[in-house]
Amino acid sequence: MDKIIIHGGHSLVGSVKISGSKNSALPILAATLLTEETCVIQRVPDLSDVHYMLQILAHLGAEVERASGIVTVKAEKVNSVAPYEIVRKMRASVCVLGPLLGREKEATVSLPGGCVIGDRPIDLHLRGFQALGAAVRVHGGNVKVFAPSLHGATISLKGKFGTTVLGTDNIMMAAVLADGTTVIEDAACEPEVVDLANFLNKMGGKIKGAGTARIVIEGVKELHGAEHEVIADRIEAGTFLIAGAMAGKEVTVNRVRPDHLVAVTDALRACGFSVNGTNGSLAISGNGTRNSLNLRTQPYPGFPTDMQAQMCALLSTAAGESSVTENIFPQRFMHISELKRMGATIELYGATARIRGVDSLSGAPVMASDLRASAALVLAGLLAEGTTEINRVYHIDRGYEMIDEKLGELGARIERVKV
Ligand code: EPU
Repeated sequence: MDKIIIHGGHSLVGSVKISGSKNSALPILAATLLTEETCVIQRVPDLSDVHYMLQILAHLGAEVERASGIVTVKAEKVNSVAPYEIVRKMRASVCVLGPLLGREKEATVSLPGGCVIGDRPIDLHLRGFQALGAAVRVHGGNVKVFAPSLHGATISLKGKFGTTVLGTDNIMMAAVLADGTTVIEDAACEPEVVDLANFLNKMGGKIKGAGTARIVIEGVKELHGAEHEVIADRIEAGTFLIAGAMAGKEVTVNRVRPDHLVAVTDALRACGFSVNGTNGSLAISGNGTRNSLNLRTQPYPGFPTDMQAQMCALLSTAAGESSVTENIFPQRFMHISELKRMGATIELYGATARIRGVDSLSGAPVMASDLRASAALVLAGLLAEGTTEINRVYHIDRGYEMIDEKLGELGARIERVKV
């Protein structure tokens, strides 16, 4: 198990190339199961979650090849059962349900349990499949969805915490091969949903309205192979912008979509940073001040839950008192206790963290608990005085491609140690 060691206090300067989006790549790879023809997906990040997805595709019968960010999938024949040993490693495995149901009219996938960021139900996905005419059975820890045929329907994906991103993906992937027209109301508007819809349309799908709360899918008889380049990872880009905010002179993130990062750049500007964008790049620099902020996570285009932990790290050294309310995953605060061990002053009140800015953080041995919490600890370590040792780095490797090399190129003193 690797650990990352950071000697804090070294200024970051320069530019970093952002990878393809994990949360786009995963459902897009799952969507390749919808056709027996060859699909070529470019800018696929080299991440452990992507490896798990490729293993699942191979287990389901697809031929999978991967060479420097390009993945080729040919799913000439598929079986419709994804067992526990494979899917347990990654919750996003659930997004093979939609394409398998669409193509094979049945799918069995081990039910995802809760995870460290909270309860992760899939009731909205299942409600959507049922509206399309599928029956749902839960047995032995697996969920089986099956239907003699799927028919279009109007489905609302509104849940207790808003809509669902992978649920929207799953219903689109099942409905694209259903008879008739499906309307998804209260759909997730995230750029990753739009990216998947664009790929499905390249495969011959007829999907309109992705990126709005109302998606209309006219079912087609079959889909064909297609090529697609995954969009830039807005969460990786936002994380590097915060690295620049915390420890940088001037840091530029390249190959990004600034329009996907508006909530994050607005928040950084409100904190006192200057953020400027040109042609697929964003540069951040500071003038020494860091203002406090009151922030709430929201579905896109609001401030993303996947940037909440990193923002808590930044605000721990902002002047005055900040508050961060988590509206999507109310328990997603595992980073707080570790940040406190580095000297942050944070109190949790339900789903709100109240952060009183301190002058400095100090390096400490800390434990990564989930992907974004781990990123927050890396960011805190860049700024902290002394050495920070982050254990259980495999959490970071799920979602950040070569984070240690990329930060090293910007001037961070960071090393990965095999334990
Ligand atoms: N929810 C339900 N019922 C459902 C589905 C979701 O109640 O059937 C609830 C969830 O418990 C949560 C809220 O709805 O409270 C939103 O969950 P959502 O379904 O949107 O999350 P997801 O689709 O499973 C994706 C990303 C997450 C990201 C969320 C929210 C992928 C692979 N994962 O998860 O990314 O936090 O959307 O934007 O796309 C990450 O990258 O670190 C990560 C966790």
